[in-house]
Amino acid sequence: MKQLLVVVAALLGLAIAADGAVLYSQNCAGCHGANGQGIPGVFPPLSGNPRIQDEAYVVKAIRQGISGPLEVGGQTYNGVMPAMPQISESDARAIAAYTRGLGGTPAAAPEPTPIPTDPALAARGKALFLGQARFQNGGAPCMACHTAGNFGPMGGGSLGRDLTDLHTRLGAAGIQGVLTSIAFPVMRESYKGHPLTPEEIAALTAFFAQTAGKPGNTASMDAARMLFAGLVGLLVLFGAMYLYWNNRRLGLAERIRTSSRRSA
Ligand code: HEC
Ligand code: HEC
Repeated sequence: MKQLLVVVAALLGLAIAADGAVLYSQNCAGCHGANGQGIPGVFPPLSGNPRIQDEAYVVKAIRQGISGPLEVGGQTYNGVMPAMPQISESDARAIAAYTRGLGGTPAAAPEPTPIPTDPALAARGKALFLGQARFQNGGAPCMACHTAGNFGPMGGGSLGRDLTDLHTRLGAAGIQGVLTSIAFPVMRESYKGHPLTPEEIAALTAFFAQTAGKPGNTASMDAARMLFAGLVGLLVLFGAMYLYWNNRRLGLAERIRTSSRRSA
């Protein structure tokens, strides 16, 4: 009987660990690597990282996100890991158990991903970014929320940041990580059920490698955009005032008419 309980407990433990592995590959591997090896200078390693032994720390990092300077194995990091409150407390604990098991020694550093320089691939990435080509799984064009490089006065959306220097900041492997496990809240919602394919991610990475060397939306571009937005705003305001006063005038005329009818 006791033996049976031990077996059951072991199986349950395995089930939790397995769950943790799946959750890890879905939510973390894109940035921290399949074996928790990280990307030097961009995403800290989880394997061989002493802080990972602290379950509460890992759960908090997952559920509340983490930013600010960090040091792991002599490398410094100063990035942003978005909060993932959609991962339940118990799932976060399963992930923490899994990462603890990743090993006390750092996994081998990944092979540096070559910078994709194929101009045709970059052109395809640009078309995807702008929405001129459709994503296979129906995701929104990046342009809806971001700009990258210089697309003229209206640029792209401004919900997300300007991605012009993305390649300089994250490198090819970092970009691929971020686009594989999309974790930034608004963006995550937008791509839920519409993941990017590896081919699309490669094309976008090639596009970002191309924009990195180019001037982005400089301050003067931003000024032009603001001026344009200001003009549009003024037009809308005038339009609204016109309608408002027109209605009021009609309303007044109507009131005068009815009151004169009444008194007549
Ligand atoms: C979008 C990329 C991204 C994803 C996805 C991501 N992380 Fe992170 N993570 C980061 C970055 C960047 C940092 C470093 C933040 C800093 O510099 O302060 C970090 C830091 C951490 C730390 C702190 C490391 C330390 O040395 O103190 C832990 C723990 C962690 N992540 C665990 C996870 C787990 C577990 C998941 C999956 C649920 C995950 N991360 C998903 C980017 C990501
Ligand atoms: C619905 C709006 C939306 C769409 C569409 C969208 N993003 Fe984002 N994205 C965001 C927001 C919001 C953030 C988090 C704030 C930030 O860092 O810009 C973000 C963050 C990012 C980041 C991390 C920025 C960094 O510096 O670490 C990258 C990279 C990124 N998006 C690339 C893309 C790409 C490529 C596409 C198209 C496949 C895309 N996004 C589509 C809203 C969006």
